[in-house]
Amino acid sequence: MKKYNIAVIGGDGIGPEVIGETIILLKATELEFKFSYAEGGYEAYKKYKTPLPTETISTCKKCDAILFGAVTTPPHIEKYKSPIISLRKLFDLYANVRPFVSLPIPSQRQDINIILFRENTEDLYMGEEYKIPGGAVAKRIITKKASKRIIQTAFETAVKKNRKKVTVVHKANVLRLTDGLFLKIAQSLSKKYPGIIYEEMLVDSCAMQLIKKPESFDVIVTTNMFGDILSDEIAGLTGGLGVAASANIGRTQALFEPVHGSAPKYAGKNIANPLASFLSACLMLEYLGEMRTAVKIRKAIDSTLRNKYMTKDLGGTASMTDFTKKVISYYNYP
Ligand code: NAI
Ligand code: MG
Repeated sequence: MKKYNIAVIGGDGIGPEVIGETIILLKATELEFKFSYAEGGYEAYKKYKTPLPTETISTCKKCDAILFGAVTTPPHIEKYKSPIISLRKLFDLYANVRPFVSLPIPSQRQDINIILFRENTEDLYMGEEYKIPGGAVAKRIITKKASKRIIQTAFETAVKKNRKKVTVVHKANVLRLTDGLFLKIAQSLSKKYPGIIYEEMLVDSCAMQLIKKPESFDVIVTTNMFGDILSDEIAGLTGGLGVAASANIGRTQALFEPVHGSAPKYAGKNIANPLASFLSACLMLEYLGEMRTAVKIRKAIDSTLRNKYMTKDLGGTASMTDFTKKVISYYNYP
């Protein structure tokens, strides 16, 4: 049996806790893993004066996939760059894939099944900001190359997963050159996929439609900042940040992380929801080709929630560690 080498960066706050639970879950499966632990984030910065030590980078280079928790970004350090942004850039993890599927949580809508593709390497996230007299400027860069590969990935996935529609979200009416380019590339690429319904939507209108008719969305593809904001909105419709998972995929490497941040006020209290990390681990298993194990974990999660066993953020009373134990028991005895 293949032994997967997984780089593990827990990060800060609840990051190491939810990733720790995820590793307990992965160890309970039939698969074999070698977990290579590495440091990154604000705690690492305090120790090494860098949030992404070179040792962490070399660990990531040697492994089959990266599992990432969450990191704290200290607002008072002006030059600080979040290691997640650096890792996305360093490994050219151009596709940020965020699937949102309704879970059996009584308080949530039951008809949502959206995959959001967010461009992951450029836009306002290049961190190119500078001061001008009386203010500041942020550069927003959109290139043909990056737009093409994320839009193509969205369409290819739509075909592979039998999805019906791709919605391109933009603001080309105002950002005529940058989003204009993104939109033009989408229009041209869409012609190669006659079996997929092609739709265009302004980002503000999309934000509203997601609340009114989330069931009408299928696959969404958009630029980096819009994708960041819309994915938290969709997370809010499907159970919140405690359940939102994501994959950052490049040509040769991939990183899997919960959408949420380090939620410092929950750290050390055994109350964070590890589900977002569990579901990110499922995305990792699918990437590694271990579909059966991913399906088994998803089923165990489903049974756990259906039996009304959940953490506080979802209206339950289970602690983080008890929730993990329950999922593992459903994994072993479905
Ligand atoms: P956050 O995602 O950490 O927390 C927002 C709220 O969501 C929390 O107050 C909590 O109520 C809830 N929440 C998040 N994860 C949860 C979980 N697993 N279980 C239960 N409830 C959960 O975002 P916030 O508070 O804006 O940022 C905190 C820190 O995280 C900041 O330093 C920020 O820069 C960083 N951050 C890091 C990210 C990353 O590592 N990829 C992403 C977003 C924020
Ligand atoms: Mg975000």
